[in-house]
Amino acid sequence: MSPRFADASAPTLPLWLIRPSEHGPALPEDLGESGRAWAKAQGFSGNPGQICLIPTPDGNIAGALYGIGPARAPSDRPARERYQLARAAEGLPSRNWRLANRPEGFDAALGALGWLFAQYRFARYKKAEPPAARLVCPEGVDQARILAMVQGEFLARDLINTPASDMGPADLEQAARELADRHSARITVTTGDELIAGNFPMIHAVGRAAAQAPRLLDLRFPGTGPRLTLVGKGVCFDTGGLDIKPSASMALMKKDMGGGANVLGLAETMAQLGLTRDISLRVLVPAVENAISSDAFRPGDILTSRKGLTVEVNNTDAEGRLVLADALALADEEAPDLLISMATLTGAARVALGPDLPPFFCDDDRVAAALQAAGRNHADPIWRMPFWEPYESLIEPGIADLDNAPGGGFAGAITAALFLRRFTGRARHYAHFDIYGWQPSAAPGRPKGGAGQGMRAILHALPEILS
Ligand code: BES
Ligand code: MN
Ligand code: ZN
Repeated sequence: MSPRFADASAPTLPLWLIRPSEHGPALPEDLGESGRAWAKAQGFSGNPGQICLIPTPDGNIAGALYGIGPARAPSDRPARERYQLARAAEGLPSRNWRLANRPEGFDAALGALGWLFAQYRFARYKKAEPPAARLVCPEGVDQARILAMVQGEFLARDLINTPASDMGPADLEQAARELADRHSARITVTTGDELIAGNFPMIHAVGRAAAQAPRLLDLRFPGTGPRLTLVGKGVCFDTGGLDIKPSASMALMKKDMGGGANVLGLAETMAQLGLTRDISLRVLVPAVENAISSDAFRPGDILTSRKGLTVEVNNTDAEGRLVLADALALADEEAPDLLISMATLTGAARVALGPDLPPFFCDDDRVAAALQAAGRNHADPIWRMPFWEPYESLIEPGIADLDNAPGGGFAGAITAALFLRRFTGRARHYAHFDIYGWQPSAAPGRPKGGAGQGMRAILHALPEILS
């Protein structure tokens, strides 16, 4: 089901965006006296999300008022409600609506984005109708750009929501192949024992116990220019391996390919926008299932990584950093201008910042500032955390170069990020996003389930970072 704006030639109804104010909301002149009296009688205040339908004398709908809350400076703390028009999309009757006014400080592009985000339904296993109210793309808003961002987001949501029974490594490969076909990208897949021959020992070790063979998906888009490589964690299900997760922690682990889903979603958006012409984009997704069988890798095993660093497995549940390490090492070999990893990597990141605010790590202040600002301006909040050098010793065990699961668990998101960074060094810039990839309870424009995080922050920061 694809996101839609109203047909520009269709008949439309006016939608007035109203802010609250001390002496009651300022209601538009064109409502007429009876319309304004009606809005007052209904108790319309302009609070966020409030809808007031305006009737015609003969009992039809003349238009609607929609509360968007008080104005905020862009530098202000973020609004409670992320997508201002999402509740309008969900609550207005099935008509075509046009914005009748543009209050100061209202971001029409973000409004349009939120409206379309509200149209998402995951209907693979049960019929679900999206809300039928349609918005005419507001004037001055780049319709193609909004649609590309929304389609990337919907792709990520779909991939995450699909359970491991239908989204194993082979299915994730299929999704990547379809993406590559849509945009004439080349895709190479290294599967099963080929991973040994191709020197991806840790991807193989983590994934070899599963019924579907582990694999590395490698997509190259047909463009030239600065080199951007995105690496996404593609653990299609994370049981924890032999150091098995308790059932409560395992419940959501179909979403452990959320990093892979996000990099594929971002690639979809970039390709639709034609950005892959002037940027040389590569996407790597190690796709595995962290399963249990007689063939499973074990606690205490020491793996030799692609890069040559040895890794002592102190917990088979710290599998994400292992598969990412080999993929990052490969990515780093060609020294891209910007290397980004996205992964549902640690519970510690959720403890620190919660499900809605993914931490990212980046050594370069200019790049980090560009990412953080782009996230703030595009309703995709992220928060910088440090690659804290003094903690390097935590990931160094006695008898190997690295430990995948430092005891004690202090600073778990940082030690995971430091571990990943050991496998980079040639890339001009490296940034790592520890995402949750999941909306725990429904919010406007964000139904419960798979969620994109960081895609728009990256998208909008690219021009500055790569310039
Ligand atoms: N996929 C999990 C991390 C995760 C858990 C993300 C819950 C989001 C929600 C990852 O593979 C994992 O199990 N990490 C362990 C690492 C630990 C064993 C060092 C964790 O965070 O507990
Ligand atoms: Mn795990
Ligand atoms: Zn995992």
